[in-house]
Amino acid sequence: MLPPLTQIPPEIAALGDYERFARERIAPASWAYLDSGAGDEWTMRENIAAFARLPLRPRLLRSMQGASTALNLFGCDLVAPILIAPTAFHALAHPDAELATVMAAGATGTCMVVSTQASLLLEDVASAAAGPLWFQLYIQPDRDFTEGLVARAEAAGYRALVITVDAPVNGVRNAEARAGFALPPHVRAVNLDGMRLPAAGAPGTLLFGTPLLESIPDWSAIAWLRERTRLPIILKGIVDPEDARRAIDFGADGIIVSNHGGRALDGIPAAIDLLPDVANAVARQVPVLMDGGVRRGIDVLRAQALGADAVLIGRPILHALATAGALGVAHALRVLMAEFELAMALTGCRTLADIDAGCLAPAPRR
Ligand code: FNR
Ligand code: LAC
Repeated sequence: MLPPLTQIPPEIAALGDYERFARERIAPASWAYLDSGAGDEWTMRENIAAFARLPLRPRLLRSMQGASTALNLFGCDLVAPILIAPTAFHALAHPDAELATVMAAGATGTCMVVSTQASLLLEDVASAAAGPLWFQLYIQPDRDFTEGLVARAEAAGYRALVITVDAPVNGVRNAEARAGFALPPHVRAVNLDGMRLPAAGAPGTLLFGTPLLESIPDWSAIAWLRERTRLPIILKGIVDPEDARRAIDFGADGIIVSNHGGRALDGIPAAIDLLPDVANAVARQVPVLMDGGVRRGIDVLRAQALGADAVLIGRPILHALATAGALGVAHALRVLMAEFELAMALTGCRTLADIDAGCLAPAPRR
């Protein structure tokens, strides 16, 4: 395996360019974990393919004076509607792990969502932050422990809780299994140390009836959490308009339309295709974010045009991290922001509020 780079070579000009460089720097089994999707990986591929089916419509000669990509989300000032998605175990990608990612977030004015399954303590990540952080939480069967985790995130200065609801059990990722992936001894979910786990089913047993499945969170868990924190609660993984309305009824302050990067349930549509109906149902009552397949500035524009207030980036951040640590992640974010500004300029959008369905052209007739 090659060592991380200390400079970004000219061959890396876009987010997608990082993939090849990352692959040469991550152990094959870890690569299988970081890069794979559930089942046949149809949803994972669709997340990207669906963006390419959304042609753009430029409107020209509009004034761009005073143009800006800035926004405020849940009280956090962001330079652009681009966030770092929560992903587990950054130590698999780079020895500096989440510390590198959070430094890059600070250097670029990007909000990082730190995973429950981070490889470093949430307090240590927060100490290195120069900008807003949100904490991603899986509501755990051990509710006392979960409550303690929320209190720790509040005390460490996290500004919002992202509750991931689409992966109460792990998706079946065949590539990972085939590669024989297991966490290396130095990498573990340190924030979950001391948590009580339900007894695992015997190897080869089915899911139903196991203590794990009996204890997965339902809507009452959202109500339970709402009572226990004053932080904004954002539900990640909502893809159904009815679920979105229900989330708001249960006190959610925001929604992330996501299919977990195709890692949970294979066969559901691309996140960008699920976005418009959810955004319509939410009708601007709360912010709607999306993730899955965002690789270009024009994808950020497409998501905004279909009703997203912001997008999150998953795998490309891990690729940039593996390639060149904090430098790589900061570079990747800058590249994406620059592409997004260009996309706005060429479609005549001066502010985020100007980006609407009018930025999309009708699909070409075949
Ligand atoms: C994830 N994702 C994820 N989501 C979450 O809520 N908590 C987590 O710990 C993780 N862990 C994780 C690990 C890895 C290796 C990947 C690739 C993804 C999902 C992530 O937040 C996001 O939804 C997707 O990655 C977005 O899709 P793209 O940008 O990877 O296409
Ligand atoms: C994953 C879990 C950690 O996607 O969310 O790997």
